[in-house]
Amino acid sequence: MQQMPKQKISVVGTGYVGLVTAVCLAEKGHYLVCVDKDEEKILTINAGKSPIHEKGLDELLQKHINKNVFGTIDLPQAVQQTDVTFIAVGTPFDGEHIDLTYIRQAAAEIGHALKNKSTYHVVVVKSTVVPGTTYDVVKPILESTSQKQIGKDFGLCMNPEFLREGEAVNDFLNPDRIVIGGLDEQSTAALTAVYAGFVGTPIIKTSTQAAELIKYTSNAFFATLISFANEIANLCSQLPNVDAMEVMEAFWLDRRITPMSDKLSVRPGLVDYLKPGCGFGGSCFPKDINALVAYGKQQQKKMTLLESVIEVNNLQPMQMLALLQKYFPHFKNIKIGILGVAFKPGTDDIRCSPAIHVIHELNKHDANVYVYDPVVKTIPAANVVFTDTMETLIKTVNVVMIFTAWPDFQRVPALLTAYNPKAIVIDGRRILGKKDVLHYEGIGINLSPLNLPISA
Ligand code: UGA
Repeated sequence: MQQMPKQKISVVGTGYVGLVTAVCLAEKGHYLVCVDKDEEKILTINAGKSPIHEKGLDELLQKHINKNVFGTIDLPQAVQQTDVTFIAVGTPFDGEHIDLTYIRQAAAEIGHALKNKSTYHVVVVKSTVVPGTTYDVVKPILESTSQKQIGKDFGLCMNPEFLREGEAVNDFLNPDRIVIGGLDEQSTAALTAVYAGFVGTPIIKTSTQAAELIKYTSNAFFATLISFANEIANLCSQLPNVDAMEVMEAFWLDRRITPMSDKLSVRPGLVDYLKPGCGFGGSCFPKDINALVAYGKQQQKKMTLLESVIEVNNLQPMQMLALLQKYFPHFKNIKIGILGVAFKPGTDDIRCSPAIHVIHELNKHDANVYVYDPVVKTIPAANVVFTDTMETLIKTVNVVMIFTAWPDFQRVPALLTAYNPKAIVIDGRRILGKKDVLHYEGIGINLSPLNLPISA
């Protein structure tokens, strides 16, 4: 079989998306230059260590660093040395709109570098950006700073990324589809060639605007499922004898959700987003849904459903506090244990994590808060005591609040039995059964506190 020619690619921004893109494209045989303004990050990367906790990333980085992956802070040189440049910088939500500051900066710096380049180059927007950004914002900046013309001297594509934190390497290497929004045939063909090693993966070729919206549609859909499940769960919490987990599990069995093939049911991934819980967090869903709602407003389109998705989610961590207050109305004279502070298992990312909202709220009430997380070891601006092990936390506290579904937290019932059977468990991810512990509370289940186990 003829081997695909390896391509020279630079990636601007070494966050989750940028670093994973770079390392995985290196795994596919390409030559990669990672660019970041943060010199410390680049030093870490060049030492073969990932600055973020992500399954499999360290191993892949060690395999490729200084062979076909190189880190640098020198963006112009990276552009000179490569033929394709991915923009993978952050696109935060500034409270009102998507903040395109980093996109604009990256585009301008790449454009300046392209001014002195004689060969054809393709710029690819990988960051999540609202529809129109590639064409209306990135293109004019690139053209004015490079004094060159798109379609003639260089190409521009939009290529959204669908990886999940914690599964990022696997998701990137085994994508469901590759979406390429290209401004012309030459740039689309050049980017298609970058993905030649992803044999069998459908490639959707479309406009830059549609590519941008495909990404938001995906995140908005899954966030909507979560808020839907949580709205049903919150109703269940008001009712006697109705457990939201049971309701959802029965609902999942509808064949329009769980199809049958040869008498075997196929459990689809979307049911992972239809569980009662303490709400979604992370660096993507909250910012992206907010950005899409703001963008809709700009287009004179009120996004009524998505506004509600945000509203339900903003209130969801408070359900955990409401369960705690059933026992301890003022959070006084008790030790509260938080199990898991990352927004989901497999990551050390605490951005918009429901646990962080609750910790800040507890801090306002001067509550005694103890925290254990397998990877997170500090929380900025929070007054908490970290325990080294889950055992220590369980021995210490009166209430165990579970915010993250780390598989290791399945040991909670055994640890409680051994060390602290009277402690109350408040399960924010519904990972334990209500009979697994003596005093159980969970999102979406109405259990009255029969016996107060300790004096409040
Ligand atoms: C999400 C999308 O799933 C990816 O496809 C997308 O590429 C990524 O955002 C992005 O835009 O970069 P991610 O934020 O890593 O990925 O996390 P998910 O695994 O999708 O979970 C998001 C949040 O939903 C987590 O806080 C999780 O705990 C929460 N969740 C999930 C619930 O609250 N309830 C559920 O039933 C399921």
